[in-house]
Amino acid sequence: NVLILDFGSQYTQLIARRVRELNIFCEIKPYNNLPKDLSGYKAVILSGSPFSVRAEDAPHPDLSEIRGKKPLLAVCYGAQYLAHFGGGNVAPSNTREYGRANLSFVEKDELFLENISEGSQVWMSHSDTIKELPTNAKKLASTHDVENAAYKIEGEDTYAIQFHPEVYHSKDGKLLLENFLVKIAGLAQTWTPDAFVDTTVSELKEKIGDDKVILGLSGGVDSTVAAVLLHKAIGENLYCIFVDNGLLRKNEFQSVLTQYEGMGLNVKGVNASARFLDELAGENDPEKKRKIIGRVFIEVFDDESHLVEDAKWLAQGTIYPDVIESVSATGGPSATIKSHHNVGGLPDYMKLDVVEPLRMLFKDEVRRVGASMGIDPELLGRHPFPGPGLAIRILGDITPEKVSILQEVDAIFVNGLKEWGLYDKVWQAGAMLLPVNSVGVMGDERTYEKCVALRAVESTDGMTADWVNLPYEFLQKTSNDIINKVRGVNRVVYDISSKPPATIEWE
Ligand code: XMP
Repeated sequence: NVLILDFGSQYTQLIARRVRELNIFCEIKPYNNLPKDLSGYKAVILSGSPFSVRAEDAPHPDLSEIRGKKPLLAVCYGAQYLAHFGGGNVAPSNTREYGRANLSFVEKDELFLENISEGSQVWMSHSDTIKELPTNAKKLASTHDVENAAYKIEGEDTYAIQFHPEVYHSKDGKLLLENFLVKIAGLAQTWTPDAFVDTTVSELKEKIGDDKVILGLSGGVDSTVAAVLLHKAIGENLYCIFVDNGLLRKNEFQSVLTQYEGMGLNVKGVNASARFLDELAGENDPEKKRKIIGRVFIEVFDDESHLVEDAKWLAQGTIYPDVIESVSATGGPSATIKSHHNVGGLPDYMKLDVVEPLRMLFKDEVRRVGASMGIDPELLGRHPFPGPGLAIRILGDITPEKVSILQEVDAIFVNGLKEWGLYDKVWQAGAMLLPVNSVGVMGDERTYEKCVALRAVESTDGMTADWVNLPYEFLQKTSNDIINKVRGVNRVVYDISSKPPATIEWE
C-alpha cells in the first residue's frame, strides 16, 4: 500500500490513478490528517500544491516518521518542501515554469532513472524554484530552465522531482513511478481487479457474517457491481431493492430487473410509478421536483426495507471520488462525504450500518472489477443517468403522457446511437421534452405539437462537457424516425451548448 500525501494539487488524484494503473494499491490522505499508524504503507508520495512553501499558511506537516524511514518520492511542492526545510533554498523563479521541458541527466541514478532516456519530455507547473538543494542532496537531472529538476538525498530512499510524473505529457512519468515503487520501494504489482474481488469478498464475509444486507439497485454501474460483489460474499442474505419511479427509460425497469435476476441476485422490483407521478403532478419547479422524487424514494425504500426482517446493514455503491478527503486550495480538508447512520430523525433503513465495498475505487476500476466478475459489458458501459430520471428532462410539469412521449423519443435516439456504433463514443445522451408547441404540417394537416431537443456530450466526469459532433446523416435519420413514429412531436433540435456555461441536463 502506498500513501499519497495531498497538499491540494489539482493533480493529486492523477497520481493515485497512475499508481493504481501499475497494479499497486494507494490511498490519498490530506497533509493535515496524516494517519497515526503508518506501518501499512511501504512508500510515500508527496503531491504538488497551489501554495508556495515560503507562505506562512502553506502545508508544513511533520514528516519525521517518514523521512529516511520509508521510500519517499516528493513531487513539485513536495520537492520544494524538502529543500526549504532541509537546508536548501526555494525562491520565486525568474520565469514562470509551466509546460513541457526536457530532462538532461547530471547523474543517472541506476534505479530511479533507469530506462528513461536523455531528453525525455516532462511537464512543469510551478512558480517557485529550488535555488539550492537541501543538505546531503545529490542533483540527478536538470532541464533548460530548471537547474534542480530531480535530486536524491544520500543515504536515504528519498527522491524529489520538480516536474509532474502523473500527467500524460510527462512521457516517461509512469515509468519513473514504476521505478520508484517497484525497484526502490520493492512493492509487488499484484493489485489487479481479480485480486480486489478475492480480498473484498473475504473481507465482506468476515465483516458481515450471517447478517442480512439491504441494497438499493438503480440499474447503474456502481450499485450493480457492489451488488454482485456482496452476492459473491453473502449470497441470499443480500436483499436488493429496485424501485421503478416511473421516470426510467422505456422498458428499462423490466429489462434491467430480468437481467439482475439472470445474474442470480435476490432482487425485488417495486413498481411505485403511480405514487411518484401523483406526487409530482402540477409541479413545475426543477428543484422541487428533485426534492419530491428524493422524498418519495426514501419513503418507498423505507417501507420495503422493513419487509426484510432483522436487516443489519445498508450497502451502497459509493466510489472513491466521493470519499477522498482532498485539500482545498484555501487550506483545511474539505468535508468528507460520509453516509449518515445511527442518527436520529432519519428513515429507519438509514440507521443500519453502512457497507461500501467500492469506496476505494475510481469509476474505471469499478468497471474493470465488474468485468472481472463477468458482468455483461453492455451493462458496465451504460451512460450515466440522473437519479430523478426523465423528470428533469421534461421541462415544466410532468404528466404520464409526457413521460411516455419522452420515453419513445429517447429510445429511438439511444437505440440509434447503438445501431450506428456511436453509443460508446458518447459519454451521456438523452432527449429533453420542451414546454413549447410549434406549428408543423403533416400531409395536408396543420399540426401544433411538441418540440424535443437531443443532447449528446463528451466528458470524463460530468463537471465539464462538450456536445458531440454527431454525423448529419445520423441526426437526419433520427429526426425523421422521431417525427414519424412519435405522436405529439413535430420538431427535433440538437443541443450544441457546452458545459459550462450550459449544463448537461436542461433542469
Ligand atoms: P448537469 O446537468 O449538472 O449534470 O451538467 C451533470 C451530471 O449529473 C447528472 N445529474 C444528476 N444526477 N441527480 C442525479 O443523480 C440529479 O438531480 C442530477 N442532476 C444532474 C447529469 O445527468 C449528468 O450526468
